[in-house]
Amino acid sequence: MGPRVVVVDGSVGLALAGADHVGELLAETPASSVVVPTGRTPIGVYEELAARRRAGVLNTSQLTVVQLDEYLGLEPGDGRSLFRWMDLMFLEPLAIDPARVLALPADGDTEGGLAFDRALEDRGGLDLAILGLGANGHLGFNEPPTAADAGTRAVDLRPETLEANASYWGDGVDVPRRAVTIGMRQLLAARQILLLVAGASKHAIVHAAIEGPVSPDVPASFLQVAADRVTVIVDRAAWEGEA
Ligand code: GLP
Repeated sequence: MGPRVVVVDGSVGLALAGADHVGELLAETPASSVVVPTGRTPIGVYEELAARRRAGVLNTSQLTVVQLDEYLGLEPGDGRSLFRWMDLMFLEPLAIDPARVLALPADGDTEGGLAFDRALEDRGGLDLAILGLGANGHLGFNEPPTAADAGTRAVDLRPETLEANASYWGDGVDVPRRAVTIGMRQLLAARQILLLVAGASKHAIVHAAIEGPVSPDVPASFLQVAADRVTVIVDRAAWEGEA
C-alpha cells in the first residue's frame, strides 16, 4: 500500500483540501508541532487557513511551528530569507506567537543541527510535517542523494534547485548555494506527513516519488516507507501531466 493520494482540481481544490487536513489535525490536537514549508505550492492553503482563523473556526493559539529549511550566509534583513517568507505567509496571518516557533540554527554547523534535533525530540517530535516537493525530489532541502536517516544539517544546493529557486527572486538575484534543512529522519518520524504538489512540471517527479523505486536519489520516495502516515494532495495538472 502506497501513501493516500487525493487528486484535486486547481489551486482552489488544493487550498481547501490542504486546509481541511490541517484543520482536522488542529481540532484534534491543538498543541501540535507542525513543519510548514515555503515555496509557491502551499500559499493557497495558508491563505485558506488564515481565513478560517479570522472566521473563528480555527484555533492556532497552541500550535508550535517548526522551520523546515533556510539559506545559509544571509545578512540580517535579506529579502531571500525563508524564515521571512514563512513569517509573511504563515506566522503573521495565523497569529503565531514568536515564542512558539522552533527555528533552525542560523549557521547550520553540526553542533547546531544536533541541538535542534534534540530540542525537537524533547518536544515529542513532529505531529505534522507539511511538505512541498522539489523539482529533483527533495523534501525541505534534503537534496539527492539523501539517506533516510540523515539528520538536520547544512547542505550544498544542487544546480536544479538553484535554477528552480531563482524564479522566486527575479532576474539578477542570486540564490544562495548553501542551506540548512531539517533531516529526513526527523521528517519521516512525523506522526503525519502531508505532501502538497501542484503543476504539470511536477508530474514525473510526483509519480517517481510515490510509485518509483525507494532511493536516496529521490528523497521523497522515502515517503513510501512511511506510507500509512502520508497523505499526498496533488492537483490534476501534476497528477495527469496536462500542460
Ligand atoms: C524549495 C524548498 C522546499 C519547497 C520546494 C517546492 O526549494 N526548499 O521547502 O517545498 O522547493 O517549492 P515550490 O512549492 O515553490 O515548488
